[in-house]
Amino acid sequence: MQPYAEMVVHNIGVLATCAGGIKKGRDMLDAGLVEGAAVAVSGGRILAAGREDEVKGAVRTDGRTKFIDAMGCLVTPGLVDCHTHMLHAGSREKELAWKLEGKSYLEILSAGGGILSTVRETRRAGDEILLMQTKKRLARALAHGTTTVEIKSGYGLSVEEELRALRLVRRLQREQPVELVPTFLGAHAVPEECKNEPDRYVDLVCREMIPRVAREKLALFNDVFCEEGVFTVDQSRSILQAGLAHGLRPKIHADEMAGSGGAELAAEVGAVSADHLLHVSPRGVRALAASGTVAVLLPGTAYYLASGHYAPARALIEAGVPVAVASDANPGSCPTEALQSLFNMACLYLRLRPAEVLNAMTVNAAAALGLVGRLGSLEPGRQADLVIWDAPNLDYPAYHFGVNLVRQVIKTGQIIGRGEECAC
Ligand code: NIG
Ligand code: FE
Repeated sequence: MQPYAEMVVHNIGVLATCAGGIKKGRDMLDAGLVEGAAVAVSGGRILAAGREDEVKGAVRTDGRTKFIDAMGCLVTPGLVDCHTHMLHAGSREKELAWKLEGKSYLEILSAGGGILSTVRETRRAGDEILLMQTKKRLARALAHGTTTVEIKSGYGLSVEEELRALRLVRRLQREQPVELVPTFLGAHAVPEECKNEPDRYVDLVCREMIPRVAREKLALFNDVFCEEGVFTVDQSRSILQAGLAHGLRPKIHADEMAGSGGAELAAEVGAVSADHLLHVSPRGVRALAASGTVAVLLPGTAYYLASGHYAPARALIEAGVPVAVASDANPGSCPTEALQSLFNMACLYLRLRPAEVLNAMTVNAAAALGLVGRLGSLEPGRQADLVIWDAPNLDYPAYHFGVNLVRQVIKTGQIIGRGEECAC
């Protein structure tokens, strides 16, 4: 007997399944498009996804089955935002004026601003304020179609404050619907109190923070901001190796402001992802292709840094590196929670095609979090995280920018939000 469907999303104009696992090279152009489609769901998982007649023939329905009419619109997997700094207090709108006066991101940081000013505000904030502000950000992300979010620590920069941040991520997981993936980023900056002894701080990260994060199982990944003036390649290597020794998989902020060998280090330590890569070297590109590391590109940050420089997405794809796109949502270099809003930017400035962007924001982003077999695509057995768009096809969200095109989000088979009526 066919399996029973609790929910069927039908009358889908274009379904993008993103099925078939992590995408590289020309496969990134294949978003698994099916016209005249349906998706059947039960127990929070996909039962069937494909042509409407085939899906309806493959499952059993009755009067209790919830039918959702997609009204001829586009349906995709829920977006996976695989690089964010959403847990922090406050905002840094004053930096925009400094930037307009000509100060660079790293100049603001070395003057005690930037990340360090958010560290001061986050340390001062009580748990309830941090939870409230982060919940608001997550609700915005969800309303824009993001159903899974990676959250980094990194605004605590002391043993107790870094642990507090990750414990709050754990609490947030229980208290709101977006799925969260925690990453330890103790090495986000050298805190003011260690300004003159950066190696002492690296020691603290390696010998105290990492073992405690691992013991409490507070994070899956260990990240480092490897950049001139922040952490050197050697310091970053020590931190990532310390994490590996405690079961934390490496991630790395690499080659963001200058080429410093971050991508090569990512490949050397077998990082699951290397993120930013604006200034990655040709050698770094080859190393990432050989190691199978996912390149997480953050076009919103490149836009906001306003250097006119973007990651060489086409060269990465041609070399066979799996490419993901994420928001980098943070209070300094990319203040947005809406990954959707970067769709158009990823096309115009990374020169990605709409299908490549969708794969980069779903299945490949899931790969950057080690979740590719569980979510990020619409195929039998995967988690039922879907977005119904107010858009007639996949070219549309790449083209119509600056407004929220999400009509309805379904997270683990539950209907979450309803936006405007369908116009397609
Ligand atoms: O990915 N590069 C370091 N971290 C963030 C910025 C965080 C901040 O400015 O608060 C980034 O760009
Ligand atoms: Fe970041």
